[in-house]
Amino acid sequence: MRIAIGSDHAGLPLKKELVEFLQEGGHQVDDVGTTGSESVDYPDFGAAVGRAVSAGDSELGVAVCGTGIGISIAANKVDGVRAAVVHDVTSARLAKQHNDANVVCMGARLVGPEVAREALHAFLDAKWEAGRHGRRVDKITALEHDQQGGS
Ligand code: RB5
Repeated sequence: MRIAIGSDHAGLPLKKELVEFLQEGGHQVDDVGTTGSESVDYPDFGAAVGRAVSAGDSELGVAVCGTGIGISIAANKVDGVRAAVVHDVTSARLAKQHNDANVVCMGARLVGPEVAREALHAFLDAKWEAGRHGRRVDKITALEHDQQGGS
C-alpha cells in the first residue's frame, strides 16, 4: 500500500519508528517531512499528509505530533480527509471500521513506540464496515462545503 507520513519536530522520533515499521511491512512510504529536530509548525505537515491522501497519491496517511491533536485538526481541513487521533489498538481499529478514517494520527508524547506500531498494524488490518456507518460518514463529507454549520 502507498502511505503518506508526516510529523512535526515533536512527532519525529515516533515517525521514524513508524516509517521503519511500514517499510518492513512492504509498504511504499512517502515521507512528507519534517526531517530535522528544529521547531516547525504541525499544520504544514498535517496539510501535506492530507493533500497526498485527498489527491489520491497515497491510499492512507499517518500523521504524528506531540499529542496527535493539532496535526489531525489540520489534516481534517483538507477535503476528503477523515483523520482520527488514536491511542491504542481499539481506537485504531474502530477509526477504520466505523469512521472510514483515511489518516491515522498519534501523539509521540502520549504513546510509546510499541503501542504505536500495534495501533498502526490494527488500523491497516481493519476493514471499513460501511452499512449503518456509511450514512454517518456521508453526513461528515456533506459538511465539507457547509457554510452554515449543518442543517
Ligand atoms: C509542539 O510543541 C506541539 O504543540 C505539537 O506537536 C502538537 O502536540 C500540537 O497539537
